Amino acid sequence: MAFLALETSCDETSAAIVKSGRVLSNCVSSQIELHAEYGGVVPELAARAHLTNLRPVIDEALAQAGTSISDLAGIAATAGPGLPNALIVGLRAAQAIAFSLGIPFYAINHHEAHLYSPWIGREEGFPAGLRPNISLIVSGGHTLLVRVDGLGRHMVLGSTLDDAAGECFDKVGKLLGLPYPAGPVVDRLASQGDPKAFSFPRPLLSDLGHDFSFSGLKTAVRYCVRDQADRLHEIQFVKDICASAQAAIVEVLVAKTIRAARQANVRYVTASGGVTCNSQLRNDLARAAQAEGMELILATPAYCTDNAAMIGILAEAFASVGKPPTDLDADVNPNWDLSHAFN
Ligand code: KG4
Ligand code: ZN
Repeated sequence: MAFLALETSCDETSAAIVKSGRVLSNCVSSQIELHAEYGGVVPELAARAHLTNLRPVIDEALAQAGTSISDLAGIAATAGPGLPNALIVGLRAAQAIAFSLGIPFYAINHHEAHLYSPWIGREEGFPAGLRPNISLIVSGGHTLLVRVDGLGRHMVLGSTLDDAAGECFDKVGKLLGLPYPAGPVVDRLASQGDPKAFSFPRPLLSDLGHDFSFSGLKTAVRYCVRDQADRLHEIQFVKDICASAQAAIVEVLVAKTIRAARQANVRYVTASGGVTCNSQLRNDLARAAQAEGMELILATPAYCTDNAAMIGILAEAFASVGKPPTDLDADVNPNWDLSHAFN
């Protein structure tokens, strides 16, 4: 018996089918083009697009998995954090399907799903393969460092005091006139730039706490670009800024993650969220973990960005350990803090 999962917290409409800790299908309809001309996600447009896209995406997920709706053992949806009107679309659809089929419904915390997404696709399946780890969640909206002791047992060690790492990538790109979302473009241009060309700050790098801050770095890039605006048409200048800003962001993320893992005395380090697609972050984390004798488990790119598979995998795992389903009239929780996810 399979689980259907829905994810509509931001600008991806996603549906997935999971069964016995494995993903049978994971369909994502991205709205990037819809929001690109505004340089960011427009909540009302996102909610309307979810309404249009959800039904076809569910049909596609069922078809790809060779599952019919009557085969479902349960259904899950993201309840928060996220955009309220976007979350409501997936949550209410899941509750309606659960009600009509008489199957259990699970409201899932989006960050808790990211937290376990690196373990999807491992040989032992989920949650059997899960081990205590330090987990970095880096997306457009959040930067979190979390200690994970087991399923539903985790503690947020630190988060960003201002901008998220992905937001910093996007704003650096915007200052350089790159298209939204700029993270992947900065990544590509950085590979041809000099990371030492500009010396940008590494905020809170030597602070022994686990919090992050990226707004000062963004401001440093802003001043650098303002003072040399006449060089913006030089492609090498743009590549050097990308490489130097990326080097600063990645150095802080890697150093703080590895330090937390050393302090927690865990063998595993994991990372997920859209910024985990960044090639330098993936390489530098791998090198640093290896130097410490730790094993790095990165979410595969399809499970780094927002997807319903991670929602379904977690819901099914909760059901398998006897966690009670969520009330069918539960509401969305747009500011749902990961620290309270298991309450
Ligand atoms: O997790 P995600 O898909 O959505 C949420 O924010 O929840 O993350 C999107 C973020 C954007 O800021 C995007 O620019 C960034 O992830 N991103 C990257 C890369 N790919 C996506 N940042 C740096 N390098 C990349 N390769
Ligand atoms: Zn996300």
